[in-house]
Amino acid sequence: MQQEIMLPTLKEKESELPKLNSNLMERMKMFMLQSQSFQEMMMMYSCAIREVRTKAEVLNDEMSVRYHRNPISRITSRVKKPDSIANKLYNKGLPFTVEAVMSNLNDVAGVRIICEFIDDIYTIAAMLAMQDDLKMIKIKDYIKYPKSNGYRSYHMIVEIPVFFSKGKTPMRVEIQIRTMAMDFWASLDHELKYKKDIDPKDEEVIAAELLSCADRIADTDLIMQQIRMKLDGVQQQAHSKQEIVMQE
Ligand code: GTP
Ligand code: MG
Repeated sequence: MQQEIMLPTLKEKESELPKLNSNLMERMKMFMLQSQSFQEMMMMYSCAIREVRTKAEVLNDEMSVRYHRNPISRITSRVKKPDSIANKLYNKGLPFTVEAVMSNLNDVAGVRIICEFIDDIYTIAAMLAMQDDLKMIKIKDYIKYPKSNGYRSYHMIVEIPVFFSKGKTPMRVEIQIRTMAMDFWASLDHELKYKKDIDPKDEEVIAAELLSCADRIADTDLIMQQIRMKLDGVQQQAHSKQEIVMQE
């Protein structure tokens, strides 16, 4: 039976908590991370990732045959590190149990789909959303509604059924879909977030520069999309002409 370990609530003397409980917390964490059920859960999340990756690869293959180009240029994925899982549970005031992870954390399994053009993002997202074995839990469109720092990306939390020997288990996966340019920006922004010894003044300047880059990137993505559409139009006309010639 799954053992539940309750954590002290975060509201009590927040500043003293980490010190007071660091030893206890470490022991609780270790207890969860070393348990068989935790290892199994991690395996289940990595299987869920494989299912989502396959779905994206299938769509890419189909579209590459139909339209003679790959809408997806890269797919990356990761299972959240055990330490980050434990920290997230702690910060949310949740118990260190597999059940708490499965019912409260949406981003243990993460798949990132990098597309060439903005339209490709919406096409892939719509095609995934249409699949009747995928349950859409949450959508956040940071492309239509960018974050104040300039972050752009299309996020979906989905639930996908994975078949194990014990039966079918719905697993949550966070899917992030973005263009190459958005991805390039996000990786630099991510570095800024995790740089600890940065001077606050420099941080402010860099944040402003990143915001201006994000806007220029968005403009470029839009222009590239328009060029793509013009090229598709030219190609379409060429195909129609060819068909007419062949009919004659
Ligand atoms: P968590 O942050 O995962 O607890 O959930 P949330 O509800 O805040 O999710 P959100 O969809 O806003 O962000 C989820 C993920 O998107 C993050 O873990 C990052 O990978 C990415 N993300 C969100 N905002 C930013 C940002 O400003 N910069 C970068 N580089 N990545 C971001
Ligand atoms: Mg996250």
